Amino acid sequence: MQGITKTFGGVRALRGVSFDIHAGQTYHLLGENGSGKSTLIKIISGAQPPDSGVIEVRGVAHQALDALSALEAGIETVYQDLSLFPNLSVAENVALTAQLVSARGQLARPLSWSKLREVAATALERVGLPITPAFLDAPVETLPIAVRQLIAIARGIVSRASLVIMDEPTAALTQREVENLLAIIASLQQEGVSVLFVSHKLDEVFRIGGQVIVLRDGSKVADGPLSEFTPSSVAYQMTGKTLEETHYRTAAPSQEPLLEVSGLTRAGAFENVTFTLHRGEVLGITGLLDSGRNELAHALSGVRPADSGQIRLAGTAAELHTPRDGIRLGIGYVPEDRLAEGLFLDKPIRENIMVSILKRLTRGPRLDYARATADTTQLSKDLQVATPSVMLPVGALSGGNQQKVMVARWLAIGPKVLILHGPTAGVDVGSKDALYRIMQNLAAQGLGVLLISDDLPELLMNSDRIGVMHRGQLTRIAPVAELSEASLTAELLEVVPVGPAPQVGGAV
Ligand SMILES: Nc1ncnc2c1ncn2[C@@H]1O[C@H](COP(=O)(O)OP(=O)(O)OP(=O)(O)O)[C@@H](O)[C@H]1O
Ligand SMILES: [Mg+2]
Repeated sequence: MQGITKTFGGVRALRGVSFDIHAGQTYHLLGENGSGKSTLIKIISGAQPPDSGVIEVRGVAHQALDALSALEAGIETVYQDLSLFPNLSVAENVALTAQLVSARGQLARPLSWSKLREVAATALERVGLPITPAFLDAPVETLPIAVRQLIAIARGIVSRASLVIMDEPTAALTQREVENLLAIIASLQQEGVSVLFVSHKLDEVFRIGGQVIVLRDGSKVADGPLSEFTPSSVAYQMTGKTLEETHYRTAAPSQEPLLEVSGLTRAGAFENVTFTLHRGEVLGITGLLDSGRNELAHALSGVRPADSGQIRLAGTAAELHTPRDGIRLGIGYVPEDRLAEGLFLDKPIRENIMVSILKRLTRGPRLDYARATADTTQLSKDLQVATPSVMLPVGALSGGNQQKVMVARWLAIGPKVLILHGPTAGVDVGSKDALYRIMQNLAAQGLGVLLISDDLPELLMNSDRIGVMHRGQLTRIAPVAELSEASLTAELLEVVPVGPAPQVGGAV
């Protein structure tokens, strides 16, 4: 890549970026939200042309690549938004591209279904997914986000690539799948495949090792072997600021119960979940993909009610049948899958935030747009959404900034309880810091926060207590002082017994 530039309207996404990728090496492309990582990747994979600059592949210079020639050159990409076909089956999503490329973009007719399934099964097995006929034929839209992420990765490694690009492939993955992916990257390296990896999880980056390329505001500001960097020096290059890992949790929660959940059950999803969230408390919950944590969040926010059990909010039985009930009761819910469950991508940031407070913004028959603009602008400033205006469509924001818009929407309702599922997935280190401070401030004002996350340092730095979910059960809730990253990992992966007899509900 030589002198690559790219401008969107008035936004200069890339300003003359140059670097080389050598065979069999691993590169980490790092930078804050909106620094240009995904744009650069789309240019390498032929999804978008650069405005200027040269892309040289094995000595041949191109002004731009198109998607087909990038694939023919052996460049496979796992996009940040996954770019799967929701209505097609798992097998089709994984293995169709290979047949498309060999037919030069024209689908071979008749399509070879047996070959398709066979090719897909090999790649799916490698990423640890099932290869049963039922799974191969399942439409992708019926599957949870983490499984979809693994399917996108399987598609990226299905053919013999020479460069595999992964744009935040671990954002939706839990511990177990991350371990698996790291092993896949190691084996790709051994086979001489180059890997370009984007992640905001610096601990993963340093575990994988290799070379680093740091972008800041569209320019390359540093590169070289990772061994010459530390997590904090990389963070400094990204942000221009020194960030200290702090223990964000300082205030102690009150003993006053805010959200009391008892015996909550939904068949096949979670069973007999009992816990109490106090005013001013941050309660962390973690668990693997299939642990039922997502379904629990749905039940607590009214997205999909439980079959049985009780939920009490501030001492009163809470009727939670629809998301509207959740909003009325002051339960904010930031879902894990922001693209499918959260955002209206082609609508402005303002509309995306104000949709939760339409009632408050209505004066008689009219919507007070001036106030909507003012309120949503303030919220997006508070959350450091990098945008010149709240009138821009959310779809034009970088991934991490889209996530911040989701959080802003639920802060707008002035919630009593905030359920955050993976709130910092894809959010850069500097903005994470801002988000954590906001969350702690809210807790200090008496809000109860349920923080569902895979990011163990995040949970340990922010929570009063942490519970682990296993196969639909909330097995144990322990004070943070008794926990460590190692003990939580072990508990999650079930490599050690979970201590004494499971104590449902924790110490209340
Ligand atoms: N299609 C588009 N239209 C308008 N602006 C865009 C478009 N795509 C990207 N941008 C802008 O270009 C800049 C770089 O975005 P990009 O998605 O490359 O960031 P990123 O480094 O991948 O961030 P993140 O870590 O949040 O994923 C941002 O300011 C973004 O808003
Ligand atoms: Mg991105």
